[in-house]
Amino acid sequence: MKRIFSGVQPTGTVTLGNYIGAFRQFTTLQDEYDCIFCIVDQHAITVPQDRLELRKNIRSLAALYLAVGINPDKAILFIQSEVPAHAQAGWMMQCISYIGELERMTQFKDKSTGKDGVSASLLTYPPLMAADIILYQTDFVPVGDDQKQHVELTRDLTERFNKRYNDVLTIPEIRLPKNGARIKALQDPLKKMSKSDPNKKSTISLLDSPKEIEKKIKSAVTDSEGIVSFDVENKPGVSNLLTIEAALTGETIEALVTKYNGVGYGNFKASVANAIIDHLKPIQDRYETLLDSEELDTILDQGADKAQAIASKTLRKMENAMGLGRKR
Ligand code: TYM
Repeated sequence: MKRIFSGVQPTGTVTLGNYIGAFRQFTTLQDEYDCIFCIVDQHAITVPQDRLELRKNIRSLAALYLAVGINPDKAILFIQSEVPAHAQAGWMMQCISYIGELERMTQFKDKSTGKDGVSASLLTYPPLMAADIILYQTDFVPVGDDQKQHVELTRDLTERFNKRYNDVLTIPEIRLPKNGARIKALQDPLKKMSKSDPNKKSTISLLDSPKEIEKKIKSAVTDSEGIVSFDVENKPGVSNLLTIEAALTGETIEALVTKYNGVGYGNFKASVANAIIDHLKPIQDRYETLLDSEELDTILDQGADKAQAIASKTLRKMENAMGLGRKR
């Protein structure tokens, strides 16, 4: 069976963008692939985090993974910092990375430009992400469009490692969703929807109440044309809402455009909001029962053991290839 690996950061609440771009794919992939999913808490601390808030977010994200449908009998779910091989392999990947290529990452530029006190780890974030992926000899990485550059760098680093030391690592391929690879901010549909957006009206969280969802969709920026059609360039707001509804309901964009023929924006938005509310309701119900359960801890404990068993084999190969330690 081919292997899948993906990770989500436990920062803030998980957005509809994370869900449509990543999570939604995970549940279908677990039936066809050997899947490993990670809560990447070590990535989260590349920017300052409140200790208690981070712990809360880690648990919340674990519960959400399960609530959206990750089945621990089929897939491994674990917390990155509980598997030490990630930090170890992350260091090795840093050692074969060039500063120039890391400085070219758009996410690094976005997060560091004009800021004081930028952490070194913000720059060395991609080699850690590469380590996450290669430790499991991953074939495919399902992510949203914003992670494309990081996965491409992972491929470059893996090829470099194999060339320098010996073919020991599998070169991964990215897997983008067919639609919804980049869900846009509701208040500025030229930007991606992001957990860290200071304007809370731009982002729908998977845990938002029906009222909050209605309000946010109602105030979503559209245009003055009053016609529901799909045109990303000229009608980014309306197109984003259509993309969201299509992704959640499984209908095609064309079918939705036909459905909304002659319908005004008010009713269109109410209908999109309902589609989101209906889709999230069962996820939110499951989340509530999982959050404080012992079952969640058992799953994470077992997940960390299984992940470490796989990761340590690759780590050993990498150490041998690089000549670290003694021959074992
Ligand atoms: P993160 O936590 O920012 O996002 C998690 C996943 O959600 C996707 N995503 C989106 N998809 C569509 N539209 C959006 N607006 C949107 N916003 C986010 C992301 O592409 C991602 O798939 N670096 C990663 C975490 C990571 C990782 C890994 C991923 C660490 N190691 C190894 C894959 C493999 C990140 O910050 O994702």
